[in-house]
Amino acid sequence: MRDGWSRFDGPAGTQMVDVAINAMSDWAAHGSNANTGGYFAAADACDALLESTRSVVGEFLGADASGICLGANMTTMTMAFHSRIARTLKPGDRIVGTQLDHEANVSPWRIACELSGAEHVLTPFDAKTGRLDMDAFEKLVTDQTKWVAITGASNLIGTMPDLSAAIAIAHKHGARVFVDAVALAPHKQINIRELGCDVLATSPYKWYGPHAGVMYIEPELLNSLPVAKVRAASDTGPRNSRLAHRILKALPPFRQRHDF
Ligand SMILES: Cc1ncc(COP(=O)(O)O)c(C=O)c1O
Repeated sequence: MRDGWSRFDGPAGTQMVDVAINAMSDWAAHGSNANTGGYFAAADACDALLESTRSVVGEFLGADASGICLGANMTTMTMAFHSRIARTLKPGDRIVGTQLDHEANVSPWRIACELSGAEHVLTPFDAKTGRLDMDAFEKLVTDQTKWVAITGASNLIGTMPDLSAAIAIAHKHGARVFVDAVALAPHKQINIRELGCDVLATSPYKWYGPHAGVMYIEPELLNSLPVAKVRAASDTGPRNSRLAHRILKALPPFRQRHDF
């Protein structure tokens, strides 16, 4: 750091690298700060910045950028996601989590189960090896399982469950998979297309970026979720606004934008 100190973040966050700090301060200083979706150059510039950020993050995660959502941090985004998922669950459904997971990938599911009457079970790990008990996992995942919530890497002990195997088991039973990749992303290259998970969350502040959250949601799932939002916000995807589209169509041509 400029003051001569080296600071290590106990909960395993990282200090931002200069290129990230400079990119943020340059943007803040250069006059294009605006709400997105406006009819003036600064808003257009913000739209373009958001799109290019989603595209770069999509590249980093090996994912379709149309599923990349940006938010405050993993916990906040996961809570919001689950408040929607809770509305799709019912008594008799099961959620399978793991005891290796960070609380941020346990509590939101527990709350969704409390709200919906679904059952929440956690897969144990072997205390000697620190590895997830895949035999127990396979028994817990049934045809009633709607979601598997699994970490890519334990933030406490570092062990990495076999994600491909877990995803294959879950999908065999028709369950979707939510991967918490907050502790995985700084240590291992991720390719969501190859992994085939339905949702994956990570936090740029763990990999030298700003304190923010990233959540990939498989685009069809994203567009089908019941959303809680103000009317002017998108019904679908992170960006396409049906309401904005309807309003724009009703406006005279010179006010129409070309990029909806
Ligand atoms: C494995 C893991 N998941 C989730 C979180 C929560 O992430 P955030 O701080 O972005 O809410 C953390 C935070 O340390 C973590 O280590």
